[in-house]
Amino acid sequence: MTDDFRGRRLVYGLVLFFITLSGFAQMPVFARYYISDIPGLGWLAQFYVTHVIHYIMASLLLALGAYAGMDAFLGRKLSPARQNPVNKGRLTRTGWVKLISLAGLIVTGGVMVVKNLSGVYFSHNLIILLDLLHLLLCMVLLGATLYAGIRKRPWIVL
Ligand code: HEM
Repeated sequence: MTDDFRGRRLVYGLVLFFITLSGFAQMPVFARYYISDIPGLGWLAQFYVTHVIHYIMASLLLALGAYAGMDAFLGRKLSPARQNPVNKGRLTRTGWVKLISLAGLIVTGGVMVVKNLSGVYFSHNLIILLDLLHLLLCMVLLGATLYAGIRKRPWIVL
């Protein structure tokens, strides 16, 4: 079977890896556990470097999401032999969990970007809530991604 999604799968995998790495770097955990002492990994302990990486990856994620969303909405061109079964093309359960957690990450992340602008002030409680929600959603996404990987669950019913 040919894989119609090879390109975006690769881009998504790279974006997910680097956005998670740069997100955890901001907590910050890599200096605390001496991971950034490993030669070549010193940048993991530099807050602004990982912060910018997180923002760049977030932009790429939004671009990829817009592309995939448009593609799903406007319809893919399929060869006649591949158009038919009832549920084909629908999101699987793991697909839904991943999509909803990604949407939540984009919303909470987007609000935190606004919070980080100079001159914008949020209450401490709201910031803590956003941080915890963002982290919780990150764990849900990574958990669902791991499960889908192990059990070979695709995003959509093939
Ligand atoms: C459009 C998407 C996203 C945006 C705009 C965004 C934005 C942000 C921002 C601004 C912070 C720093 C919070 C602060 O200022 O203290 C942050 C932290 C973090 N991000 Fe994201 N993020 C996005 C997606 C993701 C994704 C997909 C993941 C992982 C799967 C992720 C994982 C993390 C983690 C682990 C942290 C550190 C913990 C925390 O502060 O909650 N982010 N993100």
